[in-house]
Amino acid sequence: MIDISVNCMGLNLKSPFIAASSGLTTQPEKVAAFAKAGAGAIVVKSLFEEQIANEAEFLDSLSHDYTEAADYLHYYTRQNALDKYLQLIKELKKLVDIPVIASINCYNTGEWTAFSKEIEAAGADGIELNIYSLPLDTKKSSESIEKEYLVAVKAVCGSVKIPVAVKIGDSFTNIPGFVSSLKAYGAKAVTMFNRFYRPDIDIKTLKIIPADAFSQPEEHIQGLRWVAITTSLVKNIDIVSNTGIHNGSDAIKHLLAGASAVQMCSALYKKGPEAIAEAIGDLHLFMDKQGFKTIEDFKGRLNYESISNPGKFERVQFIKNYSSKK
Ligand SMILES: Cc1cc2nc3c(=O)[nH]c(=O)nc-3n(C[C@H](O)[C@H](O)[C@H](O)COP(=O)(O)O)c2cc1C
Repeated sequence: MIDISVNCMGLNLKSPFIAASSGLTTQPEKVAAFAKAGAGAIVVKSLFEEQIANEAEFLDSLSHDYTEAADYLHYYTRQNALDKYLQLIKELKKLVDIPVIASINCYNTGEWTAFSKEIEAAGADGIELNIYSLPLDTKKSSESIEKEYLVAVKAVCGSVKIPVAVKIGDSFTNIPGFVSSLKAYGAKAVTMFNRFYRPDIDIKTLKIIPADAFSQPEEHIQGLRWVAITTSLVKNIDIVSNTGIHNGSDAIKHLLAGASAVQMCSALYKKGPEAIAEAIGDLHLFMDKQGFKTIEDFKGRLNYESISNPGKFERVQFIKNYSSKK
């Protein structure tokens, strides 16, 4: 009997496939379909602190002559956005029997702890902090920015009992080093990597346009090295792979590299819940063929510390003598 359940951030997941945070996970009927297809958990769309702050500021600007009115509008906007989010968590918790993980986009208003406590009270099984702010200050050091992230992580982890994961982008100078700090500040898992909104340029209209919101399957390769290295160098924290995981073989590669679970988003937009059902079918076939009974039987088998030649993960440059491309 093959068992594909996993433990991730202290939660028992019936499969390693997690529906990533997106507009899809705000729709109860979609979430129910993902659970039915075999998803191990879902991450709800992020509650964007920045958006709430901007809406409140806009309303403030309309009523700047009436301080009391502005205060009320500010409070009302924040509370309304938060209440809607809490309502959604409660609804999803009633609807599905898999873990529902809330997501907060940490901005600089410092509301993370208040939001987190209310999210925990609403019944969320965990919180994923979606952290990133675009650095535009040339005088600010990378270290000070990372410190700000860590302060947010520590504050949230210290204010709730449910497990907290941190979702990061791939633009850190020392990824295993940063993951190690996240662990020290209380994170139980790190989701790597987020794929952010990206601007493109239309050379016909000379305008800035959005690039494709969806990933291509080959993009999962970018994360593979970091999953393999990070799971070897930083122990006792779960690494959840994300970006470019579109099918069972992409997921199997990440599990072999050491991931505890994988998140899917673009594949769910393109194929619907069937993407999860098919990936689970492929995972079963793979495990059956290889004689693996549980995910633990092969998780991390090809990570940085387990292979005989770790140099295969260390090579970054196409040095002429070592490259097969002439
Ligand atoms: C339409 C859309 C909305 C998204 N919204 C969020 C969000 O609210 N919070 C978040 O952390 N990630 C969000 N993401 C990023 C996804 O969760 C995921 O990290 C990214 O799409 C990479 O995974 P994929 O290659 O499977 O698509 C969004 C992605 C898309 C395409």
